[in-house]
Amino acid sequence: MKRPDYRGDAELVARVDQRSAEALALLREIAHDFAPAVFASSLGVEDMVLTDLIAREQLPIGIFTLDTGRLPEETYTLLDTTRRHFGLPVAVHFPQREALEAWVDEHGINAFYDSVEQRRACCRLRKVEPLGRALAGAKAWITGQRAEQSVTRAGLALREEDAAHGIAKFNPLTAWSEREVWAYVQLHEVPYNALHDRFYPSIGCAPCTRAVSAGEDVRAGRWWWENAEVRECGLHPGSHAASSADVSPISPGNKTR
Ligand code: ADX
Ligand code: SF4
Repeated sequence: MKRPDYRGDAELVARVDQRSAEALALLREIAHDFAPAVFASSLGVEDMVLTDLIAREQLPIGIFTLDTGRLPEETYTLLDTTRRHFGLPVAVHFPQREALEAWVDEHGINAFYDSVEQRRACCRLRKVEPLGRALAGAKAWITGQRAEQSVTRAGLALREEDAAHGIAKFNPLTAWSEREVWAYVQLHEVPYNALHDRFYPSIGCAPCTRAVSAGEDVRAGRWWWENAEVRECGLHPGSHAASSADVSPISPGNKTR
């Protein structure tokens, strides 16, 4: 997939410069007022923009990723590239082995396709519990979420209170458009996940992510067999309040990527 070259669009470039300056100012403030602050990177393109901003000023913000054990190969490749390109450490948090083994024993390795409860149980074990350990001792955490990404994120604020962890949560890119994110990546030659060029605008675990078609919501490829209102993994519980009753009865269909 060929992406347009945004670098010749002076108006867009000026807007991205302005947005970058604002995001940097916020990151500086977080680093100063909420030390120690940490940044959760899924290595998605928004997270690569934030990594570049943090690296530019060597801000004292620790970067971590949650390795669910089911990530696509391209994401692991980018994890190594990120460390090399920016010369920054990226802490990797894994699920608790015993709990995950017990769940797999009881329900099967791919039970997330069976029901929204099982899907959420898998996300809880592979992402939410490790997130709690990654945030231990932090005063704030930072994410790459954008309001435009889906119905579950509409109206997403720059700053939220994460009641579950009792700390502040910042979304510095909430107002950015997809075009602005890609213009930043081109302008600053930021490395990104090879899957983005294969119609994967949003990337999570391999079995729960597929390519999207033209015109589809950027998160349409995530847990595509569920209704859009419930497609969140539990890392960001504040932004949605849907229940399992909202789950579509449609089957996952073709589960291959
Ligand atoms: S999510 O539903 O998987 O959380 P998305 O992929 O859109 O949604 O990620 C939104 C933000 O959540 C990312 O920008 C990042 O801050 C955080 N995040 C998601 N997955 C991970 C992960 N595996 N490790 C660390 N942070 C993550
Ligand atoms: Fe499990 Fe899928 Fe959630 Fe990954 S995205 S933790 S594989 S249910």
